[in-house]
Amino acid sequence: MAQLKVAVMASGGGTNLQQLLDRFPSREDPSAAAEVVLVVSDRPGVGALERAHKAGIRTEVIDPGHYESSSAFGRRLIELCRAHSIGLIVLAGYLKMIPAELIVKYRNRIINIHPALLPGFGGKGMYGRKVHEAVLAAGVKISGCTVHFVDELFDHGPIIAQRTVPVFHTDTPESLAERVLVEEHRLLPEVVELIAAGRVEVADGIARVNSPDKT
Ligand code: GRF
Repeated sequence: MAQLKVAVMASGGGTNLQQLLDRFPSREDPSAAAEVVLVVSDRPGVGALERAHKAGIRTEVIDPGHYESSSAFGRRLIELCRAHSIGLIVLAGYLKMIPAELIVKYRNRIINIHPALLPGFGGKGMYGRKVHEAVLAAGVKISGCTVHFVDELFDHGPIIAQRTVPVFHTDTPESLAERVLVEEHRLLPEVVELIAAGRVEVADGIARVNSPDKT
Protein backbone atom coordinates (compact mmCIF):
# COMPACT_ATOMS: atom_id res chain seq x y z
CA MET A 1 0.00 0.00 0.00
CA ALA A 2 1.34 3.47 -0.89
CA GLN A 3 2.47 5.59 2.01
CA LEU A 4 -0.18 8.01 3.23
CA LYS A 5 1.08 11.58 3.09
CA VAL A 6 -0.15 13.60 6.03
CA ALA A 7 -0.49 17.36 6.54
CA VAL A 8 -0.96 18.56 10.12
CA MET A 9 -2.63 21.88 10.87
CA ALA A 10 -1.92 23.35 14.30
CA SER A 11 -2.20 26.73 16.05
CA GLY A 12 -0.45 26.04 19.32
CA GLY A 13 2.18 24.11 21.20
CA GLY A 14 1.92 21.02 19.04
CA THR A 15 2.29 18.18 21.52
CA ASN A 16 -0.12 16.08 19.43
CA LEU A 17 1.85 16.99 16.32
CA GLN A 18 4.97 15.75 18.12
CA GLN A 19 3.40 12.32 18.61
CA LEU A 20 2.76 12.14 14.88
CA LEU A 21 6.27 13.30 14.02
CA ASP A 22 7.70 10.63 16.32
CA ARG A 23 5.49 7.89 14.95
CA PHE A 24 5.58 8.87 11.26
CA PRO A 25 8.91 10.58 10.62
CA SER A 26 9.31 11.86 7.10
CA ARG A 27 11.19 9.64 4.64
CA GLU A 28 13.07 7.79 7.37
CA ASP A 29 11.10 4.62 7.11
CA PRO A 30 9.72 3.89 3.65
CA SER A 31 7.84 0.91 5.05
CA ALA A 32 5.88 3.13 7.50
CA ALA A 33 2.21 3.39 6.65
CA ALA A 34 2.16 7.18 6.83
CA GLU A 35 4.52 10.11 6.61
CA VAL A 36 4.05 13.66 7.94
CA VAL A 37 5.19 15.89 5.07
CA LEU A 38 3.69 19.28 5.86
CA VAL A 39 2.75 21.38 8.88
CA VAL A 40 0.45 24.38 8.44
CA SER A 41 -0.16 27.02 11.09
CA ASP A 42 -2.28 30.16 11.03
CA ARG A 43 0.31 32.13 13.00
CA PRO A 44 4.08 32.36 13.15
CA GLY A 45 6.22 31.53 16.16
CA VAL A 46 4.09 28.75 17.64
CA GLY A 47 5.55 25.63 19.21
CA ALA A 48 4.09 23.41 16.49
CA LEU A 49 6.20 25.15 13.83
CA GLU A 50 9.31 24.82 15.96
CA ARG A 51 8.68 21.10 16.37
CA ALA A 52 8.24 20.73 12.60
CA HIS A 53 11.46 22.62 11.91
CA LYS A 54 13.35 20.39 14.32
CA ALA A 55 11.99 17.35 12.52
CA GLY A 56 12.94 18.80 9.14
CA ILE A 57 9.34 19.01 7.96
CA ARG A 58 8.15 21.62 5.50
CA THR A 59 6.05 24.33 7.17
CA GLU A 60 3.65 26.98 5.90
CA VAL A 61 2.16 29.87 7.87
CA ILE A 62 -1.14 30.80 6.31
CA ASP A 63 -3.18 33.49 8.00
CA PRO A 64 -6.81 33.19 6.88
CA GLY A 65 -7.17 36.93 7.61
CA HIS A 66 -4.92 37.68 4.65
CA TYR A 67 -7.41 36.23 2.17
CA GLU A 68 -10.33 38.18 0.76
CA SER A 69 -12.70 35.29 1.41
CA SER A 70 -12.94 31.89 3.02
CA SER A 71 -13.08 30.43 -0.52
CA ALA A 72 -9.77 32.03 -1.46
CA PHE A 73 -8.23 30.65 1.74
CA GLY A 74 -9.70 27.24 0.93
CA ARG A 75 -8.27 27.31 -2.60
CA ARG A 76 -4.81 28.08 -1.19
CA LEU A 77 -5.01 25.12 1.17
CA ILE A 78 -6.23 22.82 -1.60
CA GLU A 79 -3.40 23.92 -3.88
CA LEU A 80 -0.88 23.27 -1.11
CA CYS A 81 -2.31 19.84 -0.31
CA ARG A 82 -2.28 18.90 -3.99
CA ALA A 83 1.32 20.06 -4.39
CA HIS A 84 2.32 17.69 -1.56
CA SER A 85 0.03 14.81 -2.61
CA ILE A 86 -1.67 14.95 0.78
CA GLY A 87 -3.99 12.04 1.53
CA LEU A 88 -4.94 12.99 5.08
CA ILE A 89 -5.20 16.32 6.89
CA VAL A 90 -4.96 16.20 10.69
CA LEU A 91 -6.24 19.12 12.76
CA ALA A 92 -4.21 19.01 15.96
CA GLY A 93 -5.16 22.07 17.96
CA TYR A 94 -6.03 24.14 14.88
CA LEU A 95 -8.29 26.97 16.01
CA LYS A 96 -9.44 28.56 12.76
CA MET A 97 -12.52 27.64 10.73
CA ILE A 98 -11.80 25.14 7.97
CA PRO A 99 -13.11 26.48 4.63
CA ALA A 100 -16.02 24.58 3.09
CA GLU A 101 -14.03 24.12 -0.16
CA LEU A 102 -11.40 22.08 1.66
CA ILE A 103 -13.99 20.01 3.53
CA VAL A 104 -15.78 19.15 0.30
CA LYS A 105 -12.57 18.27 -1.59
CA TYR A 106 -11.17 16.24 1.31
CA ARG A 107 -14.41 14.73 2.59
CA ASN A 108 -13.58 12.00 5.14
CA ARG A 109 -9.89 12.78 4.72
CA ILE A 110 -9.70 15.49 7.40
CA ILE A 111 -9.64 14.46 11.06
CA ASN A 112 -9.73 16.48 14.26
CA ILE A 113 -8.84 15.67 17.84
CA HIS A 114 -11.10 17.10 20.53
CA PRO A 115 -10.32 16.93 24.27
CA ALA A 116 -13.74 15.65 25.41
CA LEU A 117 -16.24 12.96 24.58
CA LEU A 118 -18.26 14.26 21.63
CA PRO A 119 -21.07 14.92 20.95
CA GLY A 120 -20.89 16.47 24.44
CA PHE A 121 -18.72 19.46 25.26
CA GLY A 122 -17.98 20.48 21.68
CA GLY A 123 -19.04 23.12 19.19
CA LYS A 124 -18.15 26.74 18.55
CA GLY A 125 -16.09 28.31 21.32
CA MET A 126 -15.40 24.97 23.00
CA TYR A 127 -11.64 24.74 22.95
CA GLY A 128 -8.74 24.59 25.37
CA ARG A 129 -9.51 25.24 29.04
CA LYS A 130 -13.17 26.00 28.31
CA VAL A 131 -13.85 22.38 27.43
CA HIS A 132 -12.54 21.10 30.75
CA GLU A 133 -14.29 23.87 32.71
CA ALA A 134 -17.58 22.83 31.11
CA VAL A 135 -16.93 19.16 31.90
CA LEU A 136 -16.26 19.99 35.57
CA ALA A 137 -19.27 22.32 35.77
CA ALA A 138 -21.52 19.53 34.44
CA GLY A 139 -20.32 17.18 37.17
CA VAL A 140 -19.80 14.26 34.79
CA LYS A 141 -17.60 11.49 36.11
CA ILE A 142 -15.96 10.52 32.82
CA SER A 143 -14.29 12.62 30.17
CA GLY A 144 -11.81 11.77 27.44
CA CYS A 145 -10.94 12.57 23.87
CA THR A 146 -12.45 12.04 20.46
CA VAL A 147 -10.99 11.76 16.97
CA HIS A 148 -13.57 12.45 14.27
CA PHE A 149 -13.83 13.29 10.61
CA VAL A 150 -14.40 16.97 9.97
CA ASP A 151 -17.63 18.14 8.40
CA GLU A 152 -19.16 21.59 7.95
CA LEU A 153 -20.08 21.97 11.64
CA PHE A 154 -17.70 22.44 14.57
CA ASP A 155 -16.74 19.19 16.35
CA HIS A 156 -19.45 17.34 14.50
CA GLY A 157 -18.37 14.80 11.83
CA PRO A 158 -18.36 10.98 12.14
CA ILE A 159 -16.61 9.79 15.30
CA ILE A 160 -13.74 7.41 14.59
CA ALA A 161 -12.44 6.61 18.08
CA GLN A 162 -12.63 7.76 21.69
CA ARG A 163 -10.72 7.16 24.92
CA THR A 164 -12.02 7.86 28.40
CA VAL A 165 -10.46 9.14 31.61
CA PRO A 166 -12.01 9.47 35.08
CA VAL A 167 -13.00 12.92 36.37
CA PHE A 168 -12.22 13.44 40.07
CA HIS A 169 -13.97 15.93 42.34
CA THR A 170 -10.56 17.34 43.17
CA ASP A 171 -9.81 18.11 39.51
CA THR A 172 -9.04 21.55 38.15
CA PRO A 173 -9.37 22.27 34.41
CA GLU A 174 -5.57 21.92 34.23
CA SER A 175 -5.33 18.55 35.99
CA LEU A 176 -8.16 17.17 33.85
CA ALA A 177 -6.59 18.56 30.65
CA GLU A 178 -3.33 16.85 31.54
CA ARG A 179 -5.02 13.48 32.06
CA VAL A 180 -6.94 13.80 28.81
CA LEU A 181 -3.83 14.86 26.89
CA VAL A 182 -2.05 11.61 27.78
CA GLU A 183 -4.88 9.74 26.04
CA GLU A 184 -4.89 12.15 23.08
CA HIS A 185 -1.23 11.41 22.50
CA ARG A 186 -1.99 7.70 22.30
CA LEU A 187 -5.18 7.93 20.29
CA LEU A 188 -4.23 10.29 17.46
CA PRO A 189 -1.32 8.25 16.03
CA GLU A 190 -3.41 5.10 16.39
CA VAL A 191 -6.19 6.58 14.29
CA VAL A 192 -3.75 7.81 11.62
CA GLU A 193 -2.37 4.27 11.50
CA LEU A 194 -5.86 2.82 11.08
CA ILE A 195 -6.68 5.24 8.28
CA ALA A 196 -3.35 4.54 6.56
CA ALA A 197 -4.16 0.84 6.74
CA GLY A 198 -7.48 1.52 5.01
CA ARG A 199 -9.42 0.26 8.02
CA VAL A 200 -11.74 3.24 8.54
CA GLU A 201 -14.93 3.48 6.51
CA VAL A 202 -17.83 5.91 6.61
CA ALA A 203 -21.33 4.86 5.67
CA ASP A 204 -24.51 6.86 6.35
CA GLY A 205 -22.59 9.35 8.46
CA ILE A 206 -21.18 6.68 10.78
CA ALA A 207 -17.48 5.82 10.87
CA ARG A 208 -16.55 2.18 11.29
CA VAL A 209 -13.17 0.67 12.09
CA ASN A 210 -12.78 -2.68 10.36
CA SER A 211 -10.72 -5.54 11.74
CA PRO A 212 -7.39 -6.10 9.93
CA ASP A 213 -8.57 -9.24 8.14
CA LYS A 214 -11.48 -7.36 6.50
CA THR A 215 -9.19 -5.20 4.32
C1 GRF B 1 -5.48 19.39 22.33
O1 GRF B 1 -6.07 19.31 23.59
C2 GRF B 1 -6.47 19.01 21.25
O2 GRF B 1 -7.41 18.08 21.67
C3 GRF B 1 -7.16 20.31 20.97
O3 GRF B 1 -6.15 21.29 21.08
C4 GRF B 1 -5.13 20.82 21.95
C5 GRF B 1 -3.84 20.93 21.20
O4 GRF B 1 -2.75 20.67 22.00
N1 GRF B 1 -7.87 20.29 19.71
P1 GRF B 1 -1.32 20.53 21.35
O5 GRF B 1 -1.05 21.83 20.57
O6 GRF B 1 -1.31 19.33 20.46
O7 GRF B 1 -0.37 20.38 22.50
